[in-house]
Amino acid sequence: MKISTRIGIVGAGPAGLTLGLLLQRAGIDCIILEHRSREYVENRTRAGLLEQNTVDLFNELNVSGRLQREGLQHHGVNLSFDGMRIRIPFDELTGGRCITIYGQQEVIKDLVKANLERGVPVYFEADATRIEDIGTNSPKIVYTQNNETHVLECDFVVGCDGYHGISRSSMPKDSYSEFVKEYPFSWLGILANATPATDELIYAYHERGFALHSLRSNKVSRLYLQVENNEKLENWSDERIWDELQIRLSDSGNFRVNRGEIFEKAITPMRSFMIDNMQHGRLFIAGDAAHIVPPTGGKGLNLAVADIRLLAEAMVTWFRKGNNDLLGSYSQDCLRRIWRAQDFSNFMTYLFHKQAPHGSFEYYLQRSRFNYIGQSKAQATTIAENYVGLKDI
Ligand code: APR
Ligand code: PHB
Repeated sequence: MKISTRIGIVGAGPAGLTLGLLLQRAGIDCIILEHRSREYVENRTRAGLLEQNTVDLFNELNVSGRLQREGLQHHGVNLSFDGMRIRIPFDELTGGRCITIYGQQEVIKDLVKANLERGVPVYFEADATRIEDIGTNSPKIVYTQNNETHVLECDFVVGCDGYHGISRSSMPKDSYSEFVKEYPFSWLGILANATPATDELIYAYHERGFALHSLRSNKVSRLYLQVENNEKLENWSDERIWDELQIRLSDSGNFRVNRGEIFEKAITPMRSFMIDNMQHGRLFIAGDAAHIVPPTGGKGLNLAVADIRLLAEAMVTWFRKGNNDLLGSYSQDCLRRIWRAQDFSNFMTYLFHKQAPHGSFEYYLQRSRFNYIGQSKAQATTIAENYVGLKDI
């Protein structure tokens, strides 16, 4: 079957769903194709840190009712190195900006609901298999649903289909350069029914490796441990995980991690990935399809939403005024923020992960870099403003 719309969106992650709402608000028709089921996308565990910019956009889109009720606003973050702790106060250093802790799967539930209630078609279990004719004014997405092949004809295609999607590889190979960095460690992440032992996140360097204490609510803790890249989950009993978290997170005070039932456990490798062009002809790419940052700093979702804010504005300008300028500068406008986030995530990763022997030259550099945060308000401000998210860039 052949159908048509103005904007064909591949992927119902944070990027695709936010774009659906922004286009709907502007009266521009779109269709979102998602190859997973609604239940699957609404229950996929991911990070849960929302920058101020992201929350502002969700407020503006009227999708933040539950986020305002259930999300936890954090006005600071704790950084720890070999048991020494520094708190970065956002209010003082960023003029009152803050972050909100709210799981990505909760964001997805809110966005799916709002799209469907506002009449945006989201086709679940619709697998985009090809993107065609991007060099013409009527690009097409070929997709299969219920074993039938369909063609969606549109004015523009937006690839919001994540790192493994088809949109990036639908651009000519010579239209972009790729940058990849694989880190020599992974994260073992858990969700547990345990009262968080901290009100604000703790990022900790320990000679046995990095640990992060995050949370989801006042009853659910989210914690991570640095592990080897080839580490097997079966080597990590619940007890071993809690013991290791306790060792790595305890500092000169007597910090105790609260233990509880672990209801989710997974190991994720860490990588930085970039392409330096996010558009070819009538195909635009946003979010994880174009860039991956290591999770130290929680930037992934926020970057996806930031891309979409620019893209939606550019598309609305094109449809209303016939003006191409913002569409033409979309890639460059996004890349400034993405490179900043790449650098910040890389900086946070190297600052807190164990990568050199304790007591080596590199170790002392790392420790000095940490100490400098406590010694210099300028350095603390640099971290604070990147962490809460730069407003204009
Ligand atoms: N056809 C249809 N849908 C597809 C296809 C395809 N061929 N390939 C992938 N998808 C869907 C995936 O099932 C997924 O739901 O595209 C969606 C991409 O969503 P995300 O991976 O969440 O990517 P994005 O919206 O860019 O959000 C980035 O999500 O991956 C996290 O940590 C990351 O927080 C970041 C955020
Ligand atoms: C999370 O809560 O899942 C989280 C928080 C901060 C990060 C990464 C993940 O840097």
